Amino acid sequence: MGWTISLANQKGGVGKSTTAQALWAGLHLKGYRVLLIDIDPQGNTTYTVGITSTTSTAYELLTRKAHVKDTIVNTPNGDIIPSNKQLIKLDLELISTGKEYKLKEALETVKEEYDFIVIDTPPALGILTVNALTASDNLIIPAQAEIYSLQGIGDLYDTINAVKKYCNPNLKIKGILLTRHNSRTILSRDMFELIGDIARQINTFVYKTIIREGVVIKEAQASQRDIFTYSFKSNVSKDYLSFINEFLERNDKDD
Ligand SMILES: Nc1ncnc2c1ncn2[C@@H]1O[C@H](COP(=O)(O)OP(=O)(O)OP(=O)(O)O)[C@@H](O)[C@H]1O
Ligand SMILES: [Mg+2]
Repeated sequence: MGWTISLANQKGGVGKSTTAQALWAGLHLKGYRVLLIDIDPQGNTTYTVGITSTTSTAYELLTRKAHVKDTIVNTPNGDIIPSNKQLIKLDLELISTGKEYKLKEALETVKEEYDFIVIDTPPALGILTVNALTASDNLIIPAQAEIYSLQGIGDLYDTINAVKKYCNPNLKIKGILLTRHNSRTILSRDMFELIGDIARQINTFVYKTIIREGVVIKEAQASQRDIFTYSFKSNVSKDYLSFINEFLERNDKDD
């Protein structure tokens, strides 16, 4: 049975897209069948994966203008449904009843073909993120160990609870993943305690793995390659592989 995982946090620049790509490419390296969905109108993930022109994207998928199979692009790292700037209009365009279920319904016919579907969401709590959470079994919250980054998690939790109540009772918060950590700064005990407290308040935990900051991430993204192909031996690659192992272990344990 396949799992659908959203990376979400309405705070911008916390590593959602970077983590979505690393999770997708890393799970593919391990032999899993993976699909990455970019529903962020910014299209960062679509760009980084190297997709330039497609006629059918997540926009056509959510507006029912294309069948899911016509939106999937095959790449050496796995399959992807690319984003499109037009997604920004969806808040206004999707007004019908059941608008929260568009992605979930669209994926139904392909869900069984994948072990993991990974969804990259925009830095907002609007209809796109709600569609992602409604379609997901699991949510991972990438965050930086900074006070401003952590403050927003409460608002995210309100959205998660609304989605659980009205759209998807099975949604599970898998954990908070600390990203972009500068290895020269030591995380203070106070900060660790605060992060632990926040995780407990939202009934989840913090992944043991912390993703360090590394310039190779930006280099890999600029050259449109995944981090493992670009620099397998880098610290960031090691961190993401260790996160993926932790993620898989927890997946086995919980379910
Ligand atoms: N571990 C890392 N080391 C160095 N740079 C990183 C790392 N992770 C992410 N970045 C950089 O930080 C920036 C933000 O990362 P990313 O795009 O993954 O965040 P995001 O949460 O998806 O942002 P947005 O909210 O805008 O979608 C990018 O320029 C990315 O290259
Ligand atoms: Mg992003």
